[in-house]
Amino acid sequence: MITASQSDTHLQLGPFQGITDVYFRQEYHSFFTGIDRTFTPFFSGIHTENSRNLRGPEIDPALNPTETLCPQLLSNDGEEVVRFASQCAAFGYKEVNLNMGCPYPQVALKKRGSGLMPYVEKVALMAETLRNETGLKLSIKCRLGYYENTEIDRLLPIFNSLNLTELIIHARLGKQMYAGTPDKMKFAQLVPKINCPVVYNGDIFSWEDFKENQRLFPQINRWMLGRGLLADPFLAADIKQQCSLEASERKEQVYRFVTSLYLRRRKAKNDNPAILGRMKELWSYLHLSFSEPAEAWRSVRRSRSFDEYEEAVANIFRNQQWIGKGFRGESDPDSYKTEPSTKIF
Ligand SMILES: Cc1cc2nc3c(=O)[nH]c(=O)nc-3n(C[C@H](O)[C@H](O)[C@H](O)COP(=O)(O)O)c2cc1C
Repeated sequence: MITASQSDTHLQLGPFQGITDVYFRQEYHSFFTGIDRTFTPFFSGIHTENSRNLRGPEIDPALNPTETLCPQLLSNDGEEVVRFASQCAAFGYKEVNLNMGCPYPQVALKKRGSGLMPYVEKVALMAETLRNETGLKLSIKCRLGYYENTEIDRLLPIFNSLNLTELIIHARLGKQMYAGTPDKMKFAQLVPKINCPVVYNGDIFSWEDFKENQRLFPQINRWMLGRGLLADPFLAADIKQQCSLEASERKEQVYRFVTSLYLRRRKAKNDNPAILGRMKELWSYLHLSFSEPAEAWRSVRRSRSFDEYEEAVANIFRNQQWIGKGFRGESDPDSYKTEPSTKIF
């Protein structure tokens, strides 16, 4: 059996609608190491060859690394994927990603995201359009299914016919949203049946979790991190054993990062008050890495103005310790189970 070594560990940051926008990605990369590849939160509604939805900073090649950022589309229409891919290629991007994982009912009920997974004929129709496109570099991010983990079995022949650059599997069902545990046994059974590189995604919250997954899936060397990295931005560097900073130094670095991100967003969006909502979405994970997480979250969540937000954040960094490894899947009703924010950017 081929096994992956620590040195080829390839880490990706999962997209988060409302959090991992262009400013987050830029600031993240200037403060932390370890992530090899990122994805845009999903685009949708690409109805024309020169879509207005693709004119903003989120995908502007002047602001984004076209080599390592992969634009993502939420769609169930092959023609739309092709239109999206050709516009991304014109910007210099090397690959596009199709979202077949989004679990939110308003998306899934329209047979999009993970809601597309039960509809094999619809996926087959899309695949027919995509197979005719030479030069299209496509990856897919999916779940095990929407209702049942057997849905992916029926889709594998289609996925295998698409010459995908990789298949990212968030090893849960769509109907689980983000709750419950990933079905690792099912994931392990799938891997040998897939003819392209496979990326594991789901509940990697610490170096120990990563090691355990590496032990379970020795053939895998591509991993996608999600909520664990939003709670502790050092997670990728820790997995790669690249960071020797003490907790107090880590806290300073995180303070510089969140401040820089906040100021960047205020400047880019002319102090639009919706920026507070964006920062709170990040804090809905980040607070978990502090010594008094409930207190940290309460003070940030309650802030109603930029001044109140700044005071709350300053107090957290002044009074609390950085613990790190925050996200353990604990159920904070106001954090990871909330709907993605409406787009303001
Ligand atoms: C608020 C929120 C927004 C998300 N937005 C996207 C998205 O735009 N595209 C996508 O493929 N996944 C999205 N995801 C899923 C994450 O990228 C990731 O797959 C998921 O959190 C599982 O990984 P984890 O268990 O390591 O957190 C989102 C998740 C959450 C909680």
